[in-house]
Amino acid sequence: MRARDSYAEPYRIKMVEPIRLKDRATREELIKEAHYNIFNLKAEDIYIDLLTDSGTSAMSANQWAGMMLGDESYAGSRNFFNLQAALQDIFGYQYVVPTHQGRAAENILMSMFVDKNQKVPGNMHFDTTEGHIRLREAQPLNLVIDEGLKSGSDHLFKGNIDLDRLEDELQNNPVSKLPLIIITATCNNNGGQPVAMDNLRAASELARKYNRPLFIDAARYAENCYFVKQRDPAYRDKSIRDIAREMFSYADGCTMSSKKDALVNIGGFLAFKNNEEWYEKAVQIQICYEGFRTYGGLAGRDLEAIARGLYEGTEEEYLEDRIGQVSYLGHRLLDLGVPIVTPVGGHGVFVDALKFLPHLPQSYFPAQSLTVELYREAGIRSVELGACAFGYTDPETGREVFPAQELVRLTVPRRVYTDRHMDLVVKAFEAIAGRKENIRGLEITYQAEILRHFTARFRLREQ
Ligand code: F0G
Repeated sequence: MRARDSYAEPYRIKMVEPIRLKDRATREELIKEAHYNIFNLKAEDIYIDLLTDSGTSAMSANQWAGMMLGDESYAGSRNFFNLQAALQDIFGYQYVVPTHQGRAAENILMSMFVDKNQKVPGNMHFDTTEGHIRLREAQPLNLVIDEGLKSGSDHLFKGNIDLDRLEDELQNNPVSKLPLIIITATCNNNGGQPVAMDNLRAASELARKYNRPLFIDAARYAENCYFVKQRDPAYRDKSIRDIAREMFSYADGCTMSSKKDALVNIGGFLAFKNNEEWYEKAVQIQICYEGFRTYGGLAGRDLEAIARGLYEGTEEEYLEDRIGQVSYLGHRLLDLGVPIVTPVGGHGVFVDALKFLPHLPQSYFPAQSLTVELYREAGIRSVELGACAFGYTDPETGREVFPAQELVRLTVPRRVYTDRHMDLVVKAFEAIAGRKENIRGLEITYQAEILRHFTARFRLREQ
C-alpha cells in the first residue's frame, strides 16, 4: 500500500449531496428526544454518518449509466445475464440466485441445508446469519482463532477459523448434526478482519474430507482479497481478480450482500459453483420469497448496477484508497492514544470503549455512551457493538449478561467521505478525550425482547 499522502482519491466528484452540522444546543435536544439512541435520529440531523458501510456507497458514473439500461422484463432480463456473466468471470461460479439483500440469500441457504438441533460452524457469523440459523432452531458455532478476540493482538489474519476445533466438530458430528460450514470474509463482527488464503484452503480440505459443503459469506470478499495481497508474500504479485478466483474455488458457493463490496445501495445473491441440483432447489424458495429466478426481488437496473459494481469493487486502486482511508482514520486515532482494534480492519475502525472510558462499568453502557458523546460533540453517528447490542437480561435471574467486547464501530461508507471528514472525526475524539471522565453513562428505560439495540431507550445516569 502506498503512503496515503502520495496519491489522491482515484475519482473526481460529479454530484454532491449537502450535509449540515446542527448547532450544539440543537444536537443536545435531538439526542435527548431520540432517547440517547442514534438509531432514532433522522439522517438529516447527522453531519458525518458512520453507522454502516452497507448500502451507503456512492455509485459511479458507469453504474448510473447501467441503471438506464435496466431491462424490466419479468423473465429473462438482459441485466440478469450480465450479472451471471460477472459471477462466472470473477467468482468462477456457474449459478446465481439474486435476492433483495444478503440476509435473504441466507434465508434460502439455511432453508436448504439446516434443520432443528443441528450446528453450523463458521469463523464468526454475522448477526443475521446467526438469526437465520436460530430461526431453524439450530445452533450457530463461532470458531474464530483466539487471537481474533483480542483487541490488541497484531495477528495479520484475525478472521481465521480455528482448524483444530473445526476438525473436532466435524469428527464428532455426522452430516445429520452438522450440515455445512460458513466462512465470513472479511469477518465483520471482530473488526473487519481478514481470513488468510491458507486458512480457507485448509478449511476447504477439511470440508472435503468430511464431505460437508463450505460456503463463503462474501459481503466484503474484495477487501479480504486486498488484505491477502498486502499481507501474504505469496500473493504480492497476483491480481485481486486472481486472488478472488482462488478464494472462491475453495468453496461450494457463497451468499453475498451486494450492499458492501458490489458498491450498490440494495441487493444480494446466493451463488453455487456448479451444483445444478442445489440451484434448482434454491430457485423454488427464491420464487416464493423473492421473485422469479432472473430478478429475485430486484429491478433489472439494480442487477446491472451490481454486475458493474462487482468489477469496480475489485479494482486495485479503488481498494487501496478505500482500505487506505479506513487505515488513515485508525492510525490517527492510535496516535491520539485512542484504544482501537488492531490491525485496523477493512470497513471501519472499532474503538474499545471499556479501555477508552475505564471509569464506566459495562452496566453503564460505555460504548453506547460514546456514540451519544460523538453525536453531541460533532454530529457524528457511530454504532454500538457492546452491552446493548449483544448483552441481555437473563429471564431467570433478572441480571444483565454482558458480552466479552464493548466496541464502537466507526464504519466508513465507500467513496462517500474525504479524509477531511475523517480529520473531523479525529478532532471530535480529541475533544472528548480531554473531558471523558465527565461522561456519565446510561441506563435503559425501555427494551424490546430481541435485537433491543435498534429500539432501546436510555436516560443519563446520575453521577
Ligand atoms: N453478512 C455480513 C458479513 C454482513 O456484514 C451483513 C450486513 C450481512 C451478511 C447481511 O446483509 O444487510 O444485505 O441483508 N451487515 C450490515 C452492517 C447490516 O452494518 O454491518 P444485508
